[in-house]
Parts: sequence; structure tokens; C-alpha cells
Amino acid sequence: MSHDEHRTGEGATEGGTGSHPVGGAASVPAKPVHDGHRVELRVGDPVADPGLGTHEPRPTDIDPAAEKRAERQISLLFAISALLTLGFCVAYFAIPRDTEFAGTNALNLTLGVTLGLALLLIGIGAIQWAKTLMDDHEMVEMRHGSSSSAEDRAEALAAFEQGADESGFGRRSMLRGTLLTSLGVLGLPAVVLLADLGPLPGDDPRKTVWAKGVHVVNDVDGKKLRLDDIQFGQLVNGQPGVFFETEDGEPLYEGTELLNAKAKASVVLVRMVPDEIVNAGSAAKGVEGVLCFSKICPHLGCPISLWEQQTKNLICPCHQSTFDLADGGSVVFGPAKRAVAQLELGLDEEGYLIAMGDFPEPVGPSFPEFYQD
Ligand code: FES
Repeated sequence: MSHDEHRTGEGATEGGTGSHPVGGAASVPAKPVHDGHRVELRVGDPVADPGLGTHEPRPTDIDPAAEKRAERQISLLFAISALLTLGFCVAYFAIPRDTEFAGTNALNLTLGVTLGLALLLIGIGAIQWAKTLMDDHEMVEMRHGSSSSAEDRAEALAAFEQGADESGFGRRSMLRGTLLTSLGVLGLPAVVLLADLGPLPGDDPRKTVWAKGVHVVNDVDGKKLRLDDIQFGQLVNGQPGVFFETEDGEPLYEGTELLNAKAKASVVLVRMVPDEIVNAGSAAKGVEGVLCFSKICPHLGCPISLWEQQTKNLICPCHQSTFDLADGGSVVFGPAKRAVAQLELGLDEEGYLIAMGDFPEPVGPSFPEFYQD
């Protein structure tokens, strides 16, 4: 229901209502509805303030053709809105994400324009509907206390129900259909955007690029490491050799893919006198006292390479978790809850260090326990 509402001082409207018939509105009620508290003026009734003139009928109140035309215009707005929303969905899949247009990202521009216009047209259509087709009332209400009485609340509810009835929502099937369609398709972008949540990690957190036969290389120059390249008591930072290999001149890993792979596959190699290694299982995974451990802290993932030669401890600089590399990388201090992962080493036929497989457990932060057996 559309209301032009005037509030006025006590008694100010009592004498101003229902006394001036208005020309040009012979078909509308001439007598204002007056309940002693609120005065409702319909088309043609005099307004509360004589200086404002009369309450004139709208073209759609008196001309059925104008009413039909307004209904078609509003329906057109809702229909265009629906098409724009569908355009949003199509653009999301059709426009490549890195396409530029007028110095900005074409996909973002298209998504913003289509969805923004779709919402705007629904809003404009709803306003037009209220202004041109819903019943036109002018309400004059006497000032009163701020709290609503039970009677007023009941009246408000009745007015709402009346408004719902007068809006013609049940009667105007074309408007109802196009509005519901435009509102219904608004849910599609939310569904379409779910595509950005994937892909699921699957068992990816368990894996690194290490595999049987992958060479261990120096992480600075990419050169394959031999046993003699690591002195007793020394720590060397290593990487999988595949990070430095190419195929047809193209690197096997580069960009974000390389960074993500490195974040899990970086290692440190240490060399100890075999008798200093107290964990027999750990020693068996090394070659002549050379052991290889993940460089990624199992607490929160900082890179670890502070090496205490005397104690054989590896210390994480972030929260001081300390791992005993002579005892399989077990935790001797700090917040880490599990040992730093060890990579089993071997030698190829030329004497270069190679991995004998991937890490036997996930490396890095203690991500959800269900990932661990
Ligand atoms: S990240 Fe290593 S101790 Fe916290």
C-alpha cells in the first residue's frame, strides 16, 4: 500500500477533512475515512494542509490503458533483471579470468555490472509498482503517545494484510511471475560461486614430489650431492632435483606450483659419525651417517635449519621447537607435537644421493589429525 503520510498537531486535521470535494475525481470516494485518530484520504479528497492542494488521482487510477502500460513496463524491468542474472552466470564461465578491458579485469567488471543492474532493476520495478499500481492513500495521523496500543498493533496488522491484498500480488500473474523469476534466479550466483571453493585437497597434503630415485641436490646451485659433499657435523639445505630439471627447455615446476611444492619438499641433510646416531631405525634410513629430514617444522611450518653441531639438535627459529636428529628427529623441547619427518636415502649407480621414496608421513604443520593414520 502506498501512503503519503502527514502528521499534524492535535486537532489540526479535524476540521480539514471531508469538507472539500475535489473536481475530476467523481468516481472515487468523496468522504474521508475517519476513525477519530487517523484520517485516510483517498484520491480526490482534500489534503490535510490546504496549502498543498488536493490529492490528485494518478493516470493509472483513472485510465485502464495507463494501468496496463505501467504493468507491462514493470514486468519488462523484472524480465531484464532475470536476463542480467543469467548473464552473470554465463560470464563467470565464459570470460577468461585474466582478460583485460579498459585497464581493468573484464570478468570482474562484467560480474559487477550484470549483478548490480539486476538488483537495481528489481528495486526500480518494485518502486514503480508501488507508485503507479498499488492503491493511493494519503494518511493524516493525530499526534499521540509513542507506545503503540494493542489496538494499534492489531490495526497495523490489518493494514498490512490489506496492503498485501491491494498490491494485487495474487491477481497480477504477470508481475508475480516475473518478480518471482527475477528473485529466484538471484540464488544462482551464490551456487555458481561455490566453484571457487574447490578443488578438494584429497590426499595431496600427504604427498610431496619426493619419489624413489629423485636426486637430492644443493638448494643453492641445484647440483646433485654425493656423500663427500657433506662433512661430518655439517648441515646442508637440499631440494628434490626435479625442481632444477627441464623438459624441452621448460622447467618441470615454476611459479606458484614451484612455491607450493617447495613448501613441502625442502629438506636438510646432516652427517654424523654412525655411532652418534642413537635411533637404529633412523640410522637405517641414512647412508653412512648422512640423514635427511624435512626442513618444515611440524608445529606451524617455519623452515628449520638452526643446527647445533654438538647436541645434534635442530632448532626452529619461530617457537624454539627442538628436534634431536640423532634420535630420529624426536621433539626434545617446544610446542611441536611430533618428530620432524625423515626421508629415506640411497645412492644411485654413480654415487649420488637419491630418495628411496616419499616421506612416510605428512610433513609440516600438524594439520587435522584425521590425515594421520
Ligand atoms: S613453527 Fe616451529 S616451533 Fe612453531
